[in-house]
Amino acid sequence: MSTNNDSWGSRIGLILAMAGNAVGFGNFLRFPVKAMQNGGGAFTIPYLVCFLLMGIPLLYVEWASGRFGGKHGHHSTPFILGSMHAGRIWKYIGVFGIFTNLAVAAYYCYLESWTLSWVWNSFSGVFSGKSQEEVTGVFKSYVSLDGPMAIITWVICLLLNTWILSKGLSGGVEKVAKIGMPLLILFGAILAIKGVTLKAGENGALHDGTFGLNFLWNPDFSTIWSPKVWLAAAGQIFFTLSVGMGSIQCYASYVKRKKDIALNAMSAGWMNEFVEVVIGSCILIPIGIGYLGIDKVVEMTKTGGLGFGFQTMPYLFQQWGGVFSIIAGVFFFGLLFFAGITSSLAMCTPCMGFMQDEFGWSRQKAAWAFGATILILGLPTVLYFNEGVFDEYDYWAGDVSLVIFALFEIILFAWVFGMKRGWDEMNEGADIKIPSFMKLIIQFISPLIIGFIFVMSLPDLWKNLSDFSSTPKVVARLLLLALWLAIAWLVRTAYYKRKREGRYLNQELKF
Ligand code: ALA
Repeated sequence: MSTNNDSWGSRIGLILAMAGNAVGFGNFLRFPVKAMQNGGGAFTIPYLVCFLLMGIPLLYVEWASGRFGGKHGHHSTPFILGSMHAGRIWKYIGVFGIFTNLAVAAYYCYLESWTLSWVWNSFSGVFSGKSQEEVTGVFKSYVSLDGPMAIITWVICLLLNTWILSKGLSGGVEKVAKIGMPLLILFGAILAIKGVTLKAGENGALHDGTFGLNFLWNPDFSTIWSPKVWLAAAGQIFFTLSVGMGSIQCYASYVKRKKDIALNAMSAGWMNEFVEVVIGSCILIPIGIGYLGIDKVVEMTKTGGLGFGFQTMPYLFQQWGGVFSIIAGVFFFGLLFFAGITSSLAMCTPCMGFMQDEFGWSRQKAAWAFGATILILGLPTVLYFNEGVFDEYDYWAGDVSLVIFALFEIILFAWVFGMKRGWDEMNEGADIKIPSFMKLIIQFISPLIIGFIFVMSLPDLWKNLSDFSSTPKVVARLLLLALWLAIAWLVRTAYYKRKREGRYLNQELKF
């Protein structure tokens, strides 16, 4: 029997936790890096189009599917999807909704631990007086595990996540979101104002802060038809909103029946966009370009990826001098930590929900088992970071898996469960009127766009799949495959267990 009687303590707690799920490294690190790699203004139009035609519809679909599954006592996607149609295939499609969370959490928690170390390094003056190259050197030696700090901080970070999870939704996750989200916005706003008001010539800046913003927000139509730019924009929307992951469905499954999801979904989604577009884009880009110029930043984002902020910001903050350079470092890496932890907590809940629902595990047992799983899965990303294992996880879990799952779930919702039932589900208890054109978008436009993106990404997918040049990367791929199969096996076991016990996935469907 399920031991899962968790619920949200308040509406504001739910919205902040959902926004915290979405707001993460994607907003402050991935967005600026992707925008710079894809030509600044050339990236923003596809990005906004993907948000409106794919991001928003998927938010509605995931919130509605999650609450529907929750009504039948399911809190993870295998059986949430399984409760929407009797076909067995959907349970196995739902495996992606646990797999992606575990695989992303495996490398995400490592990134989260960097932020903790960088808060400490900024505070204790490790970066004081260091040149740009020396700050990059600190980063390189950290990820090369030259000292014990990377491993120790990573383990502390895992313990912290596990401990918070063991306190439950209202006692742990919601409390962290209520503290972390306002602090994150406060720290971000202070740094964003400083970034935008940067003046050329002051403290060695080459350009005004607005110069970098212009590069980002001046639409550039010359590369508008580049598939690469569209793929990057779509990938960013999936990642930043956490759609196609399975965590939104899980959080929404704890929303009580007949309680609004329409306004909640939009509040959390738009809050994420506000943090990404208004705050996120006003820190790394204006400050980076302000001091280093466009060409250098483009080059560094191409080679440094998500590590770009860790290699540059401590040096750039130093240009502000004295105490403010320390405060800026603590604020920036502190806000990244809050952004990271509110997302990693969300990644943990689907797998915990599954073990509680299907195998009667206590919350504590599920939380500690999750911590142990992430320790094992994450270890290769820590030990073989320089061999590309971290990026391999990011590619398969943070790019490919999201698109596959989103494609299937929107087809299930609009075409198998049925748009009429889906629409009723979205509108039940709604505090806003969802515009009726959204029905058309969910049914036709979004599936077509997601399908198109999937087809377009197939050559790249094949190229990555057939790359056997690095043993650690091949082993990482096999490990991820083994993880997917292990979850599928658990789903199968749980399904037959339910059948034996006469516990239906959905009373109407009777399996
Ligand atoms: N949505 C989370 C982020 O942006 C995963 O980092």
